[in-house]
Amino acid sequence: MKTIIEPFKIKSVEPIRFTTKEERVKILENAGYNPFLIHADEVLIDLLTDSGTSAMSAKQWAGIMDGDESYAGSRSFYRFESVVKDITGDKFIIPTHQGRAAEKILFSIIGGQGKFIPNNTHFDTTRANIEFSGAEAVDLICEVGKHPEQRADFKGNMDVEKLEIFIKETGAENIPVVMITITNNSGGGQPVSMQNIKDVKEVCKKYNLPLFIDACRFAENAYFIKKREKGYENKSIKEICQEIFSYADGATMSAKKDGLVNIGGFLSLNDDELAIKCRNLLIVTEGFPTYGGLAGRDLEAVAQGLEEVMEESYLQYRIRSTEYLGDKITAANVPIIEPPGGHAIYIDAKRFLPNVPPNQYPGQSIACELYIEGGIRGVEIGSVMFGKYDKKTGALISPSMELVRLAIPRRVYTQSHIDYVAEVIIEVYKNRDKLKGYEITYEAPMLRHFTAKFKPVN
Ligand code: F0G
Repeated sequence: MKTIIEPFKIKSVEPIRFTTKEERVKILENAGYNPFLIHADEVLIDLLTDSGTSAMSAKQWAGIMDGDESYAGSRSFYRFESVVKDITGDKFIIPTHQGRAAEKILFSIIGGQGKFIPNNTHFDTTRANIEFSGAEAVDLICEVGKHPEQRADFKGNMDVEKLEIFIKETGAENIPVVMITITNNSGGGQPVSMQNIKDVKEVCKKYNLPLFIDACRFAENAYFIKKREKGYENKSIKEICQEIFSYADGATMSAKKDGLVNIGGFLSLNDDELAIKCRNLLIVTEGFPTYGGLAGRDLEAVAQGLEEVMEESYLQYRIRSTEYLGDKITAANVPIIEPPGGHAIYIDAKRFLPNVPPNQYPGQSIACELYIEGGIRGVEIGSVMFGKYDKKTGALISPSMELVRLAIPRRVYTQSHIDYVAEVIIEVYKNRDKLKGYEITYEAPMLRHFTAKFKPVN
């Protein structure tokens, strides 16, 4: 087998800025030890997110020029709508400025006090939007999905048995929707199998519940299905995507991931009554239904991006480049969620820093050190992002995993960038005994990871 190469060549480049280790120590201190608060031009390799960071293609940029900026009935909207409809098969396509705007609209209407919304694992904005509406977000990931060191093909699967028990105990009338996130971002970018989606759909049917897909990385998930699930080897990525969405009654989408754009999203729906309510709210919060929160040019770029993302040569390169980083660092014994996910490598901070307890944020500690050592920015996904305080004792309640996510922007970095990232991670791992825990000195009441400040524990 020959090296899998980028299925594109580079037409436009952007410089990155080099800093010294001494400079980075200062920069991090000034940022309150929170990588979110570092200026991006002080980051060398930015793996904070794969969201909105894609390099667009020449055809997408051409689409930007060609976009129709009519307030109502824009040609770009109709192209966007037809591309999305072709994939989801849904009747109503509502453009939003990004994924959380679609979530906000959906949960403002179907959420609320006394409601429960299960998912394999809710992403933080999904959870926040559900909780903001007064409803409760419930994670029902399969057992193997909770064990970073165990390898399995579809660790993003929902625990279908638990789902049914949950519905019986909670009462179907209190569950407005069941969701599945593909791939499961908060659980390691792990895919969900077609069989699991079908099984969840069967349970939903039995209790007359709608199923919605959080579709951010639908094409990456489809590629894993093609490679790992029997019966899909010879299907096209598009056919697999269409089958996934055929089991769903709707979807929320951040086009900033598998739309290969810097901004954009949508809500895709089948229910007439719900669509009317969502559109009415869209007009108040985002914009007229044929542009939502976007410019015509953005809709054009999303439409083009959604077509490019389903190209198999692109997905083969994409998934391989993530796996390549995973393989390099696991060869040096760095503990990660196995196997590598679609869009990111997740360092297992519990095994990396066994002596730093969750209430001293081991993931934060590793994220800080990666920046100091090599100017690499990743993000903690653990007790900082998902930690809650016990209402009575004030003690920290930690999630089951402490992770550092290194998300790989689409079509942005080359193999030598990734080689460098691996070298830095391995260097930090070798010096792990010197890493300190952190304590929080400031935090916001919601989504605290974005703005929290820290200091090292002595
Ligand atoms: N759902 C999932 C699974 C996501 O990963 C994200 C965003 C959203 C919803 C919200 O979309 O950002 O367009 O509003 N994830 C980004 C990340 C931010 O870094 O993983 P958005």
